[in-house]
Amino acid sequence: MSKPKVIITRRWPQEAEARAMEWFDARLNKEDKPMSVAELQEALRTADAVCPTVSDAISAEVLNATPLRCKILGNFGVGFNHIDLNAARERGLVVTNTPDVLTDCTADIAMTLMLMVARRTGEGERHVRNREWTGWRPTHMIGTKVTGKTLGLIGMGRIARAMAHKAHHGFNMRIIFTDPYPPPQEVIDALQAEARGSIEDVLREADFVSLHCPGGKETWHLINDERLAMMKSSAFIINSARGDVIDPQALVRALKNGTIAGAGLDVYEGEPKVQEEFLAMNNIVLFPHLGSATMETRVAMGLRALENVKTFFDNQEPRDRVV
Ligand code: DGY
Repeated sequence: MSKPKVIITRRWPQEAEARAMEWFDARLNKEDKPMSVAELQEALRTADAVCPTVSDAISAEVLNATPLRCKILGNFGVGFNHIDLNAARERGLVVTNTPDVLTDCTADIAMTLMLMVARRTGEGERHVRNREWTGWRPTHMIGTKVTGKTLGLIGMGRIARAMAHKAHHGFNMRIIFTDPYPPPQEVIDALQAEARGSIEDVLREADFVSLHCPGGKETWHLINDERLAMMKSSAFIINSARGDVIDPQALVRALKNGTIAGAGLDVYEGEPKVQEEFLAMNNIVLFPHLGSATMETRVAMGLRALENVKTFFDNQEPRDRVV
């Protein structure tokens, strides 16, 4: 029997690409050039499976491709707000994602952002590289202590829990959170975490707020002028979830006016575009969507996406089916 034809939209780590070639009649994107709407549609017309990733917009327009040969979108990534799930459902496509394997590394990046913005380390590094450092002194580049402070989590899924674990057990932080679907009580107890009834309650109380909710219509600009104004003026906001959860203009205003003390961002609305004003500010740390960017995790994401596709073509239920 011939192998299913699979199109992989971007470059993957070598080990994952090798597995794709072993299991499937795979077409790789050696040049790593983003695919256009027309190219994505062609992929849907000519392959049995397409493996897109978080930077491919799989819109209703893309999914309108006819005739449709593709049966499954094996997404490389846990987030799926770039895929129009309703349109995928209507076209009879199965959609899978890659949870679990990126949990720790993404939580590590959220921790890194928190530590960097509080301790001014991005600013400090630029200071040294620019040869501006004139020597140690008691008042030089004073930051904010992290250990023992209150971390407020908006969303308490896998990545938030991993961050809470590191922050609580490593940095003795008190954990507060809000989530419409809270974790089991034993998870909450192990973190000595305290649930709050609303986002607003978390914002008012936390020294550091970290966002861990999915992107999409329901969370679009969840953090706006009004909600930023509820935070302590000494508090920091961290976003390793999805860019559009924060209204970027509201964040610019809050950072300029001292409404909050600082921010750490790994994701941006309309990325890779980054708000021009952010670039000139010292109280914000900016990463280029690095959450899952370790070799171990990216290989695991590729293998997990392929495993989902293989399971599907073996006529079994894929482990990470979203649609
Ligand atoms: C995902 O998988 O959704 C992440 O944003 C990639 O790091």
